[in-house]
Amino acid sequence: MTTLSIIKADTGGFVGHSAVHPDLLATAQEAVRRAVGDGLLLDAHVASCGDDVSLIMTHEHGADSERVHSFAWDTFQQTTEVAKRLGLYGAGQDLLSDAFSGNLKGMGPGYAELEFTERPSEPVICFLADKTEPGAWNLALYKMFADPFNTAGLVIDEKMHAGFRFEVYDLFEEKRITFDCPEELYDMLMFIGAPARYVVHAVQSRNLTEQAAATSTQRLSLIAGKYVGKDDPVMIVRCQSGLPAVGEVLEPFSFPYTVGGAMRGSHHAPLLPVSIPDAHTARFDGPPRVVALGFQVTDGRLVGPRDMFADPSFDSARQQANTAMDYLRRHGPFEPHRLPLEDLEYTTMRALEARIAQRWQPMPEVATSLAR
Ligand code: 13P
Ligand code: 13P
Ligand code: MG
Ligand code: MG
Ligand code: MG
Ligand code: MG
Repeated sequence: MTTLSIIKADTGGFVGHSAVHPDLLATAQEAVRRAVGDGLLLDAHVASCGDDVSLIMTHEHGADSERVHSFAWDTFQQTTEVAKRLGLYGAGQDLLSDAFSGNLKGMGPGYAELEFTERPSEPVICFLADKTEPGAWNLALYKMFADPFNTAGLVIDEKMHAGFRFEVYDLFEEKRITFDCPEELYDMLMFIGAPARYVVHAVQSRNLTEQAAATSTQRLSLIAGKYVGKDDPVMIVRCQSGLPAVGEVLEPFSFPYTVGGAMRGSHHAPLLPVSIPDAHTARFDGPPRVVALGFQVTDGRLVGPRDMFADPSFDSARQQANTAMDYLRRHGPFEPHRLPLEDLEYTTMRALEARIAQRWQPMPEVATSLAR
């Protein structure tokens, strides 16, 4: 069995929350080079989207491996040291715990992991996003694995026709459920249409009983009990041979749907699919961005990456995203650009409520007002 793990963290932004400094990437690259040399990892690639560093790694230790997670933790400690020396913004932002114990659950870094027996050819796509949250993958995963208008294979591929099983997490109650699609599509949409709370964690082929997709599902805000930056998510999707074709996996991003997480983790904005050189945020600390790194996994080697959104066929999505950004920005501090009160990562509401509590008066009776 091969395990593909993406473990990511924001350990300091250059400049502000916009990108990762090259020295952090070099530090992480040196760390993974040594881990491959030591035999801990089969192969690895360091990538970034916005201010988040992702370690894309293959190994044979399974998901939640103490050795792999602690290696990632140590690497992020090293990049944090570099970020501190350079005075980068929010050095160590996502490292919420003082010491590593067992695995990264609840410690701040996000991770998506997928274990599989390599097929004769194993195409995978690693998606990295910044300025959004794990539920941002819900709409895309629904389209890839459940919408025949997106994925032709659901209709015309014998191996896909039975559909897919979605595992959904309720991040508020910390519980999970599975939905078998297509039969339970409408039930599932009731939940995953609320992506701040319900997040697709994994997708499995019902015919092949192969896991097809995995996402990172940490909510930093809940972990820390206060604002510490949005938990910018990552996702792994396996493609072809009974799973959606590469083009079916990319297709959902041709619609730049709006996601939560822009500016101070508190605004809705369109998800902009970009090439790797464009994976830095700018306007209103956004728009939220997604990059897609394609690999062929061969005997544990990561052959790639191919920069999948570096393609003119996504120009129209980018244009639409910019138009949608203009439109949403004009709402300023009004919803639905600003997130609903309960989802704000920054708020003055508690202090404000305390300060003006005495000034609230009961509303006048309707009858009284009319009588005047
Ligand atoms: P090829 O014939 O190029 O392998 O393509 C098959 C396919 O499924 C493309 O979507
Ligand atoms: P990050 O989660 O990417 O650090 O973004 C924080 C933010 O609120 C930027 O406006
Ligand atoms: Mg940041
Ligand atoms: Mg970020
Ligand atoms: Mg972050
Ligand atoms: Mg964020």
